[in-house]
Amino acid sequence: MLIGPTLSGMARIRFAGFGDIDAPIGTSILEAALKLGAPEGSACGGVCACSTCHVYVTKGADLLSEQEDDEADILDKAFDVRAGSRLGCQAIVRKEGEIEVEISLESIETYENEHPQERGKYVPYAKLRGSAERRAH
Ligand code: FES
Repeated sequence: MLIGPTLSGMARIRFAGFGDIDAPIGTSILEAALKLGAPEGSACGGVCACSTCHVYVTKGADLLSEQEDDEADILDKAFDVRAGSRLGCQAIVRKEGEIEVEISLESIETYENEHPQERGKYVPYAKLRGSAERRAH
């Protein structure tokens, strides 16, 4: 599916189920999620010391910064790691284009724990999404 034209110097990031945002080059996936209001957790505050900002990049991975060794080390400890797994705080937009991201259940659960007033708002959706994916495979 086409997301639409992107602005110069920007990538358009679609957070599956939560909307789109134009993110300037140099923005991290986590920063874009927070600006959009998408429920991505960040227990360590974005310093590559946890895996709670874990996302799956499903389109446009080549528009993002390369994965460094310290990110790979943290992802080794993450839950449900897949081919497109990245830490949202370490994946930085480097080129214009269209990026699609799915926020992991682990990250959404962390977000709700960090925002108790929103508890129960996103996790049921993420669990339903996971069930649908398991049925499809
Ligand atoms: S927020 Fe902790 S590693 Fe990204």
